[in-house]
Amino acid sequence: MRVMIIDDEESLRHMLSVILKMEGYEATAFADAGKALKALSSDDYDFILCDIRMPGMDGLEFLKGLKQGEQDDHTVIMMSAYGTIDTAIECMKLGAYDYISKPFKSDEIILTLKKAEEREKLKRENRRLKADVARRFDVKNIITVDKRMLEILELVKKVASYSTTVLISGESGTGKELVARALHSCGERADRPFVAVNCGAIPGPLLESELFGHVKGAFTDAKRDKVGLFEEANGGTIFLDEVGELPMELQVKLLRVLQEGEVRRVGGTTSVKIDTRVVAATLKNLAEEIQEGRFREDLYYRLNVIEIALPPLHERPGDIEKLAGHFTALYARKFRKEVKGLSGDALAALLKYAWPGNIRELENVIERAMILEEGEVIEKSSLPMGVSSPREGAARTASVGLSIKKAHEAMERDFIRRALEATKNNKTRAAELLEISQRALLYKIKTYGF
Ligand SMILES: Nc1ncnc2c1ncn2[C@@H]1O[C@H](COP(=O)(O)OP(=O)(O)OP(=O)(O)O)[C@@H](O)[C@H]1O
Ligand SMILES: [Mg+2]
Repeated sequence: MRVMIIDDEESLRHMLSVILKMEGYEATAFADAGKALKALSSDDYDFILCDIRMPGMDGLEFLKGLKQGEQDDHTVIMMSAYGTIDTAIECMKLGAYDYISKPFKSDEIILTLKKAEEREKLKRENRRLKADVARRFDVKNIITVDKRMLEILELVKKVASYSTTVLISGESGTGKELVARALHSCGERADRPFVAVNCGAIPGPLLESELFGHVKGAFTDAKRDKVGLFEEANGGTIFLDEVGELPMELQVKLLRVLQEGEVRRVGGTTSVKIDTRVVAATLKNLAEEIQEGRFREDLYYRLNVIEIALPPLHERPGDIEKLAGHFTALYARKFRKEVKGLSGDALAALLKYAWPGNIRELENVIERAMILEEGEVIEKSSLPMGVSSPREGAARTASVGLSIKKAHEAMERDFIRRALEATKNNKTRAAELLEISQRALLYKIKTYGF
């Protein structure tokens, strides 16, 4: 915890610094409130201890300055000498958290700080709960009429109340995260945090400290202790998305965490017991990854206690219709349109299409159609070219004479456009769909001028 001390009196600054450091706080003292205010724009402090009467900018003005800044939710404790109690009360009206009167004993200040710490924790918890409620998921949010999916939902309800590790596999956009959230929300952990991490999006060294935390000084940028996501999700669920992307050395560490039920922060010497449920997801075929020596078999068995394999959308024709109807109603409401459904032609086209981007792509297609549609039903003509007539699309690409080079380019361009559409411009996913590297994709996007 970092504490900022602001007081014009040298001896008091010194005394406070010593007391706080003895209690394990990190203390930085300022003699000038104006300078302290500036320091806040580049540095982060958990608490601020501020004197009221100071030459230059005084405590009251400091608080006002703080309010004008961007970071106005600091926990400020005012220090008031005899005769400034009224001002101290005014400070509290301005948002200070508490005040202590000078002179004070060292345990008085520590006690006030501990109380403030407790409040910080509650505040954070509160913020998290609010965010969670807004995103509360349930099996009811998973719309399906597909037999295999309905069986999966039964399984989700059954295993939700256990802490067993679950591995969810499926193509991009098949609903892996949705299922992970449902697993969390249907179980006894629902009131505890659900923390999602995309293992593919964070570089290895950073990911380790992200997952397990670090202690101050563990590496150059480790300026203070940091709680890892496993600890943050304690009592709740951690969702390890794209677990197949975990670098080998982290796979070993994850395995240890799963086996021992404790984490050790990077650079730390002790381990912390945790009770975090792990739900992992993968686009990749992990069995293949094991064959290729890129994924540890022992970790795979640890994660895969319960396996949920989500079928791709094109294998669930009933769901294409059901979800298309669902999204049509949803976006009609959202865009205040009178559109009531889909024309027979449009539906037939949707049923014929391969849906490489699965439900996410279907949702995007309907959203787009809803914007274009003027009539009462979504017509085939409001669907993107690639969806409404994949054949014509192919014919169009062939209208480039007999040049294989040109045909190849036209096709490539078409595929890239579709992949980007299907993934809502998510380049990582688009590259995966296209089975090319992200670098290659970025290059092609530039070449084709998307
Ligand atoms: N059965 C369903 N009912 C309603 N909405 C769904 C369903 N399946 C998926 N969706 C929606 O489709 C989108 C994609 O789902 P989700 O993010 O869970 O997929 P994912 O498998 O995690 O995809 P990715 O691998 O790309 O991360 C989300 O907006 C989700 O709400
Ligand atoms: Mg996902």
